[in-house]
Amino acid sequence: MLTDILCDLIKQAFIQSGYDAKYGNIVRSQRPDLCQFQCNGAMSASKEYKKAPFMISDEVIATLKSFEGIHDIIEVIETVKPGFINITLKDSYITNHMNKLAGDSRVGCMLIENPSKIIMDYGGPNIAKPLHVGHLRSAIIGESLKRLMRFLGHEVIADTHLGDWGLQMGMILSECERRYTGLPYFDETFIGEYPTEPPFSLDDLGQIYPYVSKLSKEDETVLAAAKEATFKLQNGDKGYLALWQHIVDVSLNDIKINYERLNVDFDLWYGESHSNPFVNKVVAHLEDKGVVYESEGALVVDILTSEEEQGLPPLLLYKTDGSILYTTTDLATLYQRMEDFHPDNILYVVDNRQSTHFKQVFQCAYQNGLVPKETCLEHIGFGTMNGKDGKPFKTRDGGTIKLSELIDMVEANAREKIRDKEDLDVHAISKQIGLATLKFADLSNFRTKDYIFDLEKFSSFEGKTGPYLLYSYVRLKNIVKKLQELGITPSNITLPASDVERNIFLKLNELPEVLTLAAKDRAPSIVCEYVYELSTLVNAFYHTHHIINQTDALQQKSWMALCQLIINVMDICLDILGIEVPEKM
Ligand code: ARG
Repeated sequence: MLTDILCDLIKQAFIQSGYDAKYGNIVRSQRPDLCQFQCNGAMSASKEYKKAPFMISDEVIATLKSFEGIHDIIEVIETVKPGFINITLKDSYITNHMNKLAGDSRVGCMLIENPSKIIMDYGGPNIAKPLHVGHLRSAIIGESLKRLMRFLGHEVIADTHLGDWGLQMGMILSECERRYTGLPYFDETFIGEYPTEPPFSLDDLGQIYPYVSKLSKEDETVLAAAKEATFKLQNGDKGYLALWQHIVDVSLNDIKINYERLNVDFDLWYGESHSNPFVNKVVAHLEDKGVVYESEGALVVDILTSEEEQGLPPLLLYKTDGSILYTTTDLATLYQRMEDFHPDNILYVVDNRQSTHFKQVFQCAYQNGLVPKETCLEHIGFGTMNGKDGKPFKTRDGGTIKLSELIDMVEANAREKIRDKEDLDVHAISKQIGLATLKFADLSNFRTKDYIFDLEKFSSFEGKTGPYLLYSYVRLKNIVKKLQELGITPSNITLPASDVERNIFLKLNELPEVLTLAAKDRAPSIVCEYVYELSTLVNAFYHTHHIINQTDALQQKSWMALCQLIINVMDICLDILGIEVPEKM
């Protein structure tokens, strides 16, 4: 990578001038009008070496200039007071590098040397409750981080961790018992085979949960029945388990359809229920450690806290009624994951509002040796998607919007915009534009920030939006296609013909560092920013350079190669963002 090579040279120059290499880092210049790269290390070094910064930078530059072959690399290197080192590279050197990138399908991104085995827990939909926009962010951000980690070379196992084992299941089961009397699931003496067809449809299920959830808030006996059903389910009641399986199947089918629409996929569709066989092991382990005690009828474990993390409440293992909780299933799932996969990292992409929950679970696991210290457990939190009123996004009548309705909405909006274009497959393309609208809007905000979902703004073909990216991409593709039709083939990339072309070169060179930083910060927004900046440069490029009508054949072939390189970079970025690209638009 160009930047690495440059950085090594500067570090060498620092060392040979008698300074520590750590001061030799370089960054892209904050003043692109003055130079391309800068090194700010002389300012920090001046404290350690008690010398004026410009004296240090002057010495470093003098050393660097004595290096063999340096004049083939660097056009200008100079000190700017108080001690910045400003660097501009030779066009021939950058162009040479572009040709290396053009011949590399990974565009300079090396596979990581020591890959980790990572479990990613994201999506987190709940069975029989409709998916809502809160699950949207987890799915979109998680999917993107998974793709990013995989691209860099890590092994990633994606698990959606369905909410299929808590009180909501007991509510639905007991409501079914009231509605569908006479079915064998509720007959304890029944010994035959349970029906293979569920007694309810997806629509019935969608209606049952809100109904019983409301009722159990008003009527204590309904709540008590739900708790009892939960307990029976968790303790292996055959009839309840058979009916529960129907609920899971019907609901999961719908969840999968929604995720498919979002281009989101998992290796494991495990749920809280899969951890049930491990609950006893976890509890036994904690009991052996002597840390479990009774408090107001419930079984709890104290959480030791560090200085910065004061006063975490005790973790609940069993409720008074004997049923387990979200914390219990998360501990048991951890146990299972360690046993099945021995991961290096487990990343949980879950709403910020669950941060205390994860602190408790992680701390309990570490302090009691359920998970070794080397295994990194990390909660990757995110903020909420809000409506224009600044409150969590709702339907017009104030209800929570279902994920499927939201996807319908963005697709319909896209269809409206392209419906007059007769040569297009409007159905397929509006799906792709819709998806790009939704995903880019979400991912382009740093994940911990709340953001306002403004469909008008996010679906525009101009500005920092998904459709703008697709548009830029399709335009590039069209140019290459037209050139191909004219029988033109790409050549080597030649020296940049303008500032904007040179800036494209420098931007393309940044890909590896951008992806590394995005992975480090768990921030797809960094990839969004990058691909957006690249697109604006590309748009500026075709306004000033007429590629198709270019009469200089060599220049045209070079631009064709450049367009292909940009397409390659955009393909990598858009795939990481989980955005599909249309052929036409
Ligand atoms: N089902 C949960 C919810 O809807 C999210 C699950 C997140 N993952 C986890 N391991 N707790 O809030």
